[in-house]
Amino acid sequence: MSVQRVCVADFEEQAKKILPKAVYDYYCSGADEQNTLADNVAAFNRWRLVPRVLRDVSTVDLSVSLLGHRLNMPICVAATAMQRMAHPEGETATARACRAVGTGMMLSSWATSTIEEVMSAALGGVMWLQLYIYKDRELTLSLVRRAEEAGYKAIFVTVDTPYLGRRRDDMRNRFKLPPHLSMSNFSSASLAFSEGNYGNDSGLAVYVANAIDPSLSWDDITWIKQHTCLPVIVKGVVNDELQHCLCVASGEDATQAVNYGVDGIVVSNHGARQLDGVPATLDVLEEVVQAVQGRCDVYMDGGVRRGTDVLKALALGAKAVFIGRPVLWGLACQGEQGVIEMLELLQEELRLAMALSGCRSVSEVSRSLVRKMEFTSRM
Ligand SMILES: Cc1cc2nc3c(=O)[nH]c(=O)nc-3n(C[C@H](O)[C@H](O)[C@H](O)COP(=O)(O)O)c2cc1C
Repeated sequence: MSVQRVCVADFEEQAKKILPKAVYDYYCSGADEQNTLADNVAAFNRWRLVPRVLRDVSTVDLSVSLLGHRLNMPICVAATAMQRMAHPEGETATARACRAVGTGMMLSSWATSTIEEVMSAALGGVMWLQLYIYKDRELTLSLVRRAEEAGYKAIFVTVDTPYLGRRRDDMRNRFKLPPHLSMSNFSSASLAFSEGNYGNDSGLAVYVANAIDPSLSWDDITWIKQHTCLPVIVKGVVNDELQHCLCVASGEDATQAVNYGVDGIVVSNHGARQLDGVPATLDVLEEVVQAVQGRCDVYMDGGVRRGTDVLKALALGAKAVFIGRPVLWGLACQGEQGVIEMLELLQEELRLAMALSGCRSVSEVSRSLVRKMEFTSRM
């Protein structure tokens, strides 16, 4: 008899039993003490929903328009590296699942399937490429070119990884890819993370130190924008770099800021895998949204595990949320079907949460729907 899964936590529990320890550890770990990892999830409990009633919620429309494409729900798939460790079909299974449920997928630069094969699996579904900026700039641009030619719809540039965060389990496990897998978008063995001397460290930390450009600056966002017509979204902002991100439409400020103008921001702390001690993403979402003032899209990721979490993020101003680990748990449990089941679960949870809150469409989700809980000390 198949095991019943009624919430995202059920997927994780099952995935943990299925996956080899080093793989599960790589997927679930956060950086250092993992304080931010716990806080990303806990932050959702600091907000309460204040529903409206008697509003005829017999139909609820979850659809949204994102970067010019209609999606069936405001829940998208974040880039997570090396998905074939979770299931033999890896990213191609995830792409098929996203297309089946009508949402978008952000493919990691570090996928274990190529940009092209994932796009053919997606069969015209909405795909975006997550980009790491390599020391080798020609190589970096070749990823962008390939994404453009294959039909990807946007480039999400990850800006929070000049070095890899200290993930203690990966260090203890001396994490590296199993020998039958590689980062498929790269031809040389060292860049494909399939060969290298990683010593006693996390192999991925050594890989990043060797290959990824730590000199990355805002000028590089300009550089990427000069080399692509696709929308460019900055992933990994938590707040005060915002003036650089904004697309200033007119006035003298534009001279400088427009050079950096991006199409969107993902409020993200990389699933708490980079700098431990940063705030939970939900806690900074509203200030980012207020600073942006509608001048570009704001998305968020980190700790989204329930439909009510999605609703709270939307109420605080996110246009959509991205989910990372739950996709890996779905893949590990049952490949493409597992990811479909997990995405549909979140979709139905969101639909119910919206109906019970009196929201008939995403545009009816407003700030007044959430209230921050006051801290009350226990007597
Ligand atoms: C196993 C794993 C691999 C990841 N790989 C990447 C990556 O290759 N590129 C990237 O920008 N973010 C990567 N992320 C971060 C996710 O895109 C996303 O920000 C994060 O997972 C969201 O938090 P959540 O897992 O709590 O949903 C990864 C996260 C995990 C858990």
